[in-house]
Amino acid sequence: MSKKQKKIQIKQLQTELSFASNDTLSFGEGWGEENIYITMNFISIQNIDSLEKWVKQALKIKKNPLKNKKLGKNKTLGMLFFNSSLRTRLSTQKAALNLGMNVMVMNFTSEGWTLEFEDGAIMDQGASEHIKEAAAVVSQYCDIIAIRAFAGLVDKEKDNAETVISGFLKYASVPVVNMESATGHPMQSLADAITMAEHKTPHRAKVVLTWAPHPRALPQAVPNSFVEMMQKQEDMDFVITHPEGYELNPEITKDSKIEYDQNKAFENADFIYAKNWSNYKEYGKITNSDPNWTVSADKMKLTNNAKFMHCLPVRRNVIVTDEVIDSENSIVIEQANNRTYSAQLVLQKILENRK
Ligand code: CP
Repeated sequence: MSKKQKKIQIKQLQTELSFASNDTLSFGEGWGEENIYITMNFISIQNIDSLEKWVKQALKIKKNPLKNKKLGKNKTLGMLFFNSSLRTRLSTQKAALNLGMNVMVMNFTSEGWTLEFEDGAIMDQGASEHIKEAAAVVSQYCDIIAIRAFAGLVDKEKDNAETVISGFLKYASVPVVNMESATGHPMQSLADAITMAEHKTPHRAKVVLTWAPHPRALPQAVPNSFVEMMQKQEDMDFVITHPEGYELNPEITKDSKIEYDQNKAFENADFIYAKNWSNYKEYGKITNSDPNWTVSADKMKLTNNAKFMHCLPVRRNVIVTDEVIDSENSIVIEQANNRTYSAQLVLQKILENRK
């Protein structure tokens, strides 16, 4: 690809980006051997150039995960957690170790100072440190900063503004990686795409994202990123099913098909992706807990012998019955395994950009 073509492709990519602010869009020169591309930061699935090529590359990494063991030598990944994690924490750490990186992990909420994110704030209340200093300081210790900071589900505007990630993007001087933010979980959706590719159907696959009940109010980050990823799957049909009133952010779902009848949506499906999310309109509220939406063996009988997917952790016999998640069609453990290769590819491309 010529430099001119590359510039055009970058420009096209910039116009696609929905979340990252302009000053995060400085691009490195590191296209790497596979000619695939990432922006400086990985905040959304929109920050990569071609889902298809990325999935192929991740599958190559999976076959030989230690091939680039020298790439991350003397580089440090800082992982800051404002919320709990099992898969993201361990898989991202493993990915970094596979690349030869050093890793520092901090549970920010229990171990760090309470941060202030508002510019110009008079800090005479609870917050002890401003993001301006915190992000600048962490940037001196780390070559990449990865952050998990969920939605508070109280203030929609604040969650949509991605206060924590935006603060780091604004004040950090190194690349920032999203390990699940208020509105997105792109490393999960990349892992989901890798998993579906491994179970590619001989025909045009039908993929269904289904809402399922949950006793606690959960963020929309995972379904948002799954929707964004599915919108890039040109050879698959995609349907979202949920109770009326549970529509996700229309700026994300765009023209994705919504079917309010879960049974109808399941007909002939090849992949069922279950996830709960709290109400987006009545923000953060649980307005439905109908157990009829639980993914059961009877519902799965409506499908085309579909694979069952969930990002985990999952509430058994609430989201999905034991029978379904324990069946041979359940690929949830494979999904979790692919989190390593999704994270590894993201870190690899960022390191190549920085060379
Ligand atoms: N799917 C996922 O992100 O898992 P954790 O919350 O355990 O990291």
